[in-house]
Amino acid sequence: MLTFETSDLKKARFEILVLPVCENAAVHQNRVLSAIAKKALQQSGFDGKKDQQITFYAPREIHARQILVMGLGKRADLDAEAFRCMAGQAVKTAIQRKFESVCFATPAPQKAGVATSDLLESVFEGAYLGNYRFDRYRQKRELKPLGEISQLVAAGTAKRYKRLPGRVETVCEGTLLARRWVSTPSNEKRPEQFADDIARRAEAAGLEVTVMDEAQLQAEGFGAMLAVGAGSQGRPQMVILRYKSPNARRTVALVGKGVTFDAGGLNLKPTGSMEDMKIDMSGAAAVAATLLTAARLTPKINVVGVMPLVENMPSGSAYRPGDILRSYDGKTVEIGNTDAEGRLILIDAMAYTVKHYKPNFMIDMATLTGACVVALGEKIAGLFSPDDELAGTIEAAAARTHERCWRMPLPEDYQELLKSDIADLNNISRGRWGGAITAALFLKEFVGKTRWAHIDIAGPAAVKKEQPYCVPGGTGFGVRLLSEVIGNL
Ligand code: BES
Ligand code: ZN
Ligand code: ZN
Repeated sequence: MLTFETSDLKKARFEILVLPVCENAAVHQNRVLSAIAKKALQQSGFDGKKDQQITFYAPREIHARQILVMGLGKRADLDAEAFRCMAGQAVKTAIQRKFESVCFATPAPQKAGVATSDLLESVFEGAYLGNYRFDRYRQKRELKPLGEISQLVAAGTAKRYKRLPGRVETVCEGTLLARRWVSTPSNEKRPEQFADDIARRAEAAGLEVTVMDEAQLQAEGFGAMLAVGAGSQGRPQMVILRYKSPNARRTVALVGKGVTFDAGGLNLKPTGSMEDMKIDMSGAAAVAATLLTAARLTPKINVVGVMPLVENMPSGSAYRPGDILRSYDGKTVEIGNTDAEGRLILIDAMAYTVKHYKPNFMIDMATLTGACVVALGEKIAGLFSPDDELAGTIEAAAARTHERCWRMPLPEDYQELLKSDIADLNNISRGRWGGAITAALFLKEFVGKTRWAHIDIAGPAAVKKEQPYCVPGGTGFGVRLLSEVIGNL
């Protein structure tokens, strides 16, 4: 599906050849490509600016039905993300024109000022992710994804980077799986169904799989998680996936919030806030997809993925504001608001993880708070960690994959906002402000001495508008990021 094309430019045959160009610099080495780029820049209405494109039909110079020239903007602004966006847009154009394959005439790395591996990787990534559509629920599927995406490179480059296309494809497949899960409506992903789907795929991938049902959760004392799931006809499930690396001494635990629908519970969400709440399992989707990806990438560290799955519904059996729950860890929690449910399932999952797996690192990912979206907008996740080194590793990975994370503080004196008059903690803050921070501080009470980071993805888990390499729906945010982090720990 992702391949290198190494045949001679003049001899090769293309359906549609994509030629990215800059507005103010030549970025190709090949004479023929440079000449076409120059010709494109002479046309009126095209000057190589970002998002501009122009097509040459049945060109004389090479055997292609079309050459799609894509503007990249200024050379100084080029980075991996510019290439992801360009490639995603180009693939969408090729799909609309009913082609079955596309080939990218990727610029010369030294001319574009981007490292070779970054360049090859980002073009493949943007193209592969841009080739995804979510049309499972449509009767008519007019547009078909491309069957083949290639990059034109010298034979030496293809040889040197021969494992790159497969690796990119694996990580992108994981991302697309997470997107599909997130975009699936809640009536088709009740906790049992979602658990079964994860377990089936994980077994096929050779991961060790454990699924705890409600009776087991009860026997083990998952009081907070069970309370959240009590209002739903769908029964709570805890899914645990393990990837073991033969000689690894260290373990990273990934914990993902898996609320398959968040109605808010008895503190029912109002119209306008509930419609998108099928995405409230995006953390679990990212964790499950990352474990499946790890099974194929075989990193040199053990990975355990823990996914508490529940549906947060109002009903006669639902938990109530004012209830006091005993969490897995033993601490009691007074319920100030049943809509602050994510932190309740996470504390049970994290306390269990720390006790049973004693991980060297624990990272939880969750669509945890609307407050985080207020703070950072819809495209940037909140990163919380008392551990500078772990936070640095995550920030570096985020910069590489462009799944942006912004570090937020964990001020000790805010902890008192979570005090309860009668229980060990309240699940919401006494105050109105800083909700993303107080949610993170609540989680922090349950991680013990484990090196831990929390990533609030309430903003970037899904998009409403089409993006250069993502259609509306789940974004798969976190899969590329966590895969990168695992590789660098
Ligand atoms: N699932 C929501 C957070 C959310 C909001 C995710 C918007 C995605 C988009 C979470 O469970 C929630 O309801 N949080 C409350 C917490 C409050 C009751 C303290 C919130 O953010 O309002
Ligand atoms: Zn909620
Ligand atoms: Zn929620």
